Amino acid sequence: MAQGELKSSVLNRKRNPKSPVASRSSKRQKIAEHRKSLPIASEEERLIEAVQKNDILIIVGETGSGKTTQLPQFLFNAGFCREGKMVGITQPRRIAALTIAKRVAEECDVRLGQKVGYSVRFDDTTSSSTRLKYMTDGFLLREALVDRLLSRYSVIIIDEAHERTVHTDVLLALLKKVQRERSEIGGGVLRGCQGRKVSPLKLIIMSASLDARVFCDYYGGAKDFRVEGRQFDVDIFYTVHPETDYVDAALNTIFQIHSEEEEGDILVFLTGQEEIESVERLVQEKLKHLPEDERKLLPLAIFSALPSEQQMRVFAPAPIGFRKVVLATNIAETSITIPGIRYVVDSGVVKARTYDPNKGMETLDVVPVSKAQAIQRSGRAGRDGYGKSFHLYPERDFWKLEDSTKPEIKRCNLSNVILQLKALGIDDILGFDFIDKPSRSAIVKALAELHLLGALTDDCKLAKPAGEQMARLPLEPVYSRALILANQFNCLEEMLIIVAMLSVESIFYDPRQKREEARTSRNHFVSVEGDHLTYLSVYRELDEFLEERKAEKSEAKVEKIMRKWCKVNFVNSRSLKHARDIYRQIRGNVEQMGFNVSSCGNDMLEYRRCIAASFFLKAAQRQMDGTYRALESGEIVHIHPSSVLFRSKPECVIFDELMQTSQKYINNLTRIDPLWLAELAPHHYKTEE
Ligand code: CDP
Ligand code: MG
Repeated sequence: MAQGELKSSVLNRKRNPKSPVASRSSKRQKIAEHRKSLPIASEEERLIEAVQKNDILIIVGETGSGKTTQLPQFLFNAGFCREGKMVGITQPRRIAALTIAKRVAEECDVRLGQKVGYSVRFDDTTSSSTRLKYMTDGFLLREALVDRLLSRYSVIIIDEAHERTVHTDVLLALLKKVQRERSEIGGGVLRGCQGRKVSPLKLIIMSASLDARVFCDYYGGAKDFRVEGRQFDVDIFYTVHPETDYVDAALNTIFQIHSEEEEGDILVFLTGQEEIESVERLVQEKLKHLPEDERKLLPLAIFSALPSEQQMRVFAPAPIGFRKVVLATNIAETSITIPGIRYVVDSGVVKARTYDPNKGMETLDVVPVSKAQAIQRSGRAGRDGYGKSFHLYPERDFWKLEDSTKPEIKRCNLSNVILQLKALGIDDILGFDFIDKPSRSAIVKALAELHLLGALTDDCKLAKPAGEQMARLPLEPVYSRALILANQFNCLEEMLIIVAMLSVESIFYDPRQKREEARTSRNHFVSVEGDHLTYLSVYRELDEFLEERKAEKSEAKVEKIMRKWCKVNFVNSRSLKHARDIYRQIRGNVEQMGFNVSSCGNDMLEYRRCIAASFFLKAAQRQMDGTYRALESGEIVHIHPSSVLFRSKPECVIFDELMQTSQKYINNLTRIDPLWLAELAPHHYKTEE
């Protein structure tokens, strides 16, 4: 049936060569109508006037009212991009920057990377003609390292400020300083800005939450501007009893909605890529057992590492008769609005970083959402009409939730941002004007860690060149240092691969029903030395496989070959593709810094020594009872069952990841000789003799 339709439309097009043009103009018309219907559309004049009158403006408005997609276009039309100046818009998450930039390019009817572009870590589409630039908050912070006054921007919009990511918090403070400095210079030309004229900077803070006071106060009583939203009623449902397995409960709820409720798409909030992909497969499995006419449910995933060509699929309407079920992380809470959602399923949990400065341990844990998040999640069902929201926990548990999420700066390892502040010439970290000050102990711990990693001198100044190089690489300091060391150990190529592989989630794919088959087919990758070298052989084997077949094939063909190889080997092709992109980027970065990318060939001993020298802060030693003790924090930890070293239990390991579920687990391991620690990190470990 679908095929028949497709064929006839192809035939039509041939007979009537004008139809693509016609469809393009009708698409344009649709977009124009959509833009006009947004609540913000009637505010254009008032908004521009407010920006012109105020150097700092706080804009608060309900999600979906058009702030992120429309305001930059209004500013462009009002002349804020004259003389090559840009409007920069920051987002806490890369996928929001990507999908919104694509949408705005479509609305402006330009190719992405021309007037509208995005820049995120490992992926930059902007060009010299870009005027509206969407980027992550982390990217703008890094840009400030090269252009301190951010002189190419006439306006900077910090979007989703209520999320209070650590990068947003640092930007809020930094931009206050940049704005002051730029207005002091007036219309002068400054050295270091490639002869560009420096004009005053307009700063706009955008937030979805109703409490804008914190931002107004921070900027000395800055003006706030409210954009009214449009919200329909949403019926809220809770479970009677707590659920033991929210993934299972989510699955049942999806199918219950599908069979009992009227038409409308479903949005499900889950915690991360692995979970989303597993629910995606479970939905597909379950559908196979339903009668033909009940199978019209289309699962679609959206999470940070989703390859670019799959991201926009969630925004497209489902085929006629089908219901979309969008499986999302908290990205869909406020940053992106998916049209057509009538039903929300809230797992009640979110993946969040927590950090204990006393132990120096950062973990990524699944924790309950806040009340504000749960309310925001429900609201997503009421964008296009009356909706329903199903929370997978009892109402009494809702009342026990925290009111709002703690700013990330108060619960993360600060070494990365402190290194960047140091590289920006800001030396007095304890006295820095943070909107919410991190604890003194967290700052001191981060300074000590940076010193141990060789990024800071004894008097806490940026070390040259190591600290400068580490600040310039778009990686956590400990990974940057690993690359610098690998250059000395002659295994830079291997370390680049490992760092890329560690930057993505779930390399292997473990379907519940085929666990044994997956294990056997992956056996040949496994290295007795640990997970790092296992990842290395996955990467290398695919590389060789593609190399042999690449010669006369198009990029799309190569992708297809890659997906097939991944399927046969039970490797997650989305993750591997992402890792390959990251590898290319950071290889470019280190080559720009003048490093020569050398390989240690098969000398894995040298490579493991380099791992020990780089990650000496994450070493764990086996105890008499078979558990491990993390040497830095003294905590008792266990090897995660998915690690290739789970059974062999070597005496001493380096770990990359620490996570807390029923107990503390370490994962992504390499076996090392404990004596190497004293030899390679003598400033931190002493031999007991
Ligand atoms: O920023 P705010 O939450 O106020 O709204 P927005 O992100 O500017 O979105 C405005 C509208 O654009 C929403 O109705 C979205 O559904 C729509 N949109 C879309 O259809 N496709 C995208 N890729 C992004 C936004
Ligand atoms: Mg927005």
